[in-house]
Amino acid sequence: MIPSQRHLFEIPDDIAFLDCAYLGPIPKAAVQAGIDAAWRKAHPWEITPDQFFNEVDVVRDLYARIFGADQDGMAMTSSASYGMATAAKNVRLTPVGEVIVLADEFPSTVYTWRDAARRAGANVVTVSREAGQTWTDAVLNAIGERTEVLALPETHWVDGGMLDLPRIGAAARDAGAALVLDLTQSLGASHFDAHAVQPDFACAAAYKWLLGPYTVGVLYVAPHWRTGAPLEQSWLNRAESDNFARLIDYRDDYQPGARRFDMGERSNFHTLPVAISVMRQLLEWGIGNIADTCGELTKKCEEAAIAAGATPCDTPDRAPHYLTLGLPEGVGDDLVLRLREQKVYVSRRGPRLRVTPHVWVNDDDIAKFERALGEALRA
Ligand SMILES: Cc1ncc(COP(=O)(O)O)c(C=O)c1O
Repeated sequence: MIPSQRHLFEIPDDIAFLDCAYLGPIPKAAVQAGIDAAWRKAHPWEITPDQFFNEVDVVRDLYARIFGADQDGMAMTSSASYGMATAAKNVRLTPVGEVIVLADEFPSTVYTWRDAARRAGANVVTVSREAGQTWTDAVLNAIGERTEVLALPETHWVDGGMLDLPRIGAAARDAGAALVLDLTQSLGASHFDAHAVQPDFACAAAYKWLLGPYTVGVLYVAPHWRTGAPLEQSWLNRAESDNFARLIDYRDDYQPGARRFDMGERSNFHTLPVAISVMRQLLEWGIGNIADTCGELTKKCEEAAIAAGATPCDTPDRAPHYLTLGLPEGVGDDLVLRLREQKVYVSRRGPRLRVTPHVWVNDDDIAKFERALGEALRA
């Protein structure tokens, strides 16, 4: 377990921030990288054309290590929604086809596939699970002859259920269906291996468990899709775009690998140095160690919450980093606000309280959470 890394973050002692699934804090060193980066654009003459390409490939390389994938498979996006839309533009969906999504799934996934299905004349099938059933079993039972796409997370954003993606990936391949993942609520805090899962596309936003800046996202694209159609026609993504003098020699061919899917202006001088700093820190801690640490912290938070009067987590396959709790009948909508007044930060999603600590959390934070939750539930 990683000892509390509070000293690396600008989080005052009296704040118990247990809400990484909402927004991950940027460590102090990465904030400094961002300040330095903001100054760069004040001196544009110092920004040379190679900087439009080199820095972004450093980011690609770091993402590749976190994904267990190759650098060429990583595309730079602005958001998870952007990655999901790119997948929807490329995968095959026919009028008899079905897209599987989970009940209570994140809205961008639902809207993207509703739209794609409407355009193709296909159907979206929403998979629910019985009490006590895992999401993995619910999905495996739902795959049928018509399944053409499975659009899934690794961790369900409302109940914290974790999907066995290597098993689901194998079943998707057997069914001839594409596997499209949104890893926003797990990447960085849970070990992921693109070789083991073999998704067709896998997207994530960086501003939660990757502790990164906003408007920075990533899309992994499997080798067989790397000749596909990008959402935008950015000049940077075309072959030899690094030769600025020859840009009007228009080209039909692209930069290698998944680079064709990069969003416009992906060479963001302001945000990329922040993302680089923080991903190096994540890799230094080790994703496996982060996962173990978050797992221990959520266990302690669960014990504290039960002592305070919350209902134990009933998610059978809970992701170690992601605690969701039932609440006693009649708890008011203002519970999160009451906790905030005590400087305890958690979220409510649907009927559940979501508690997602990370390496900055210490025992004092958990004691404060127990006290504040107990008082709020008794009130
Ligand atoms: C599961 C999931 N996916 C994606 C996002 C963010 O999506 P985007 O990057 O498109 O804003 C969130 C934010 O809460 C999320 O919980």
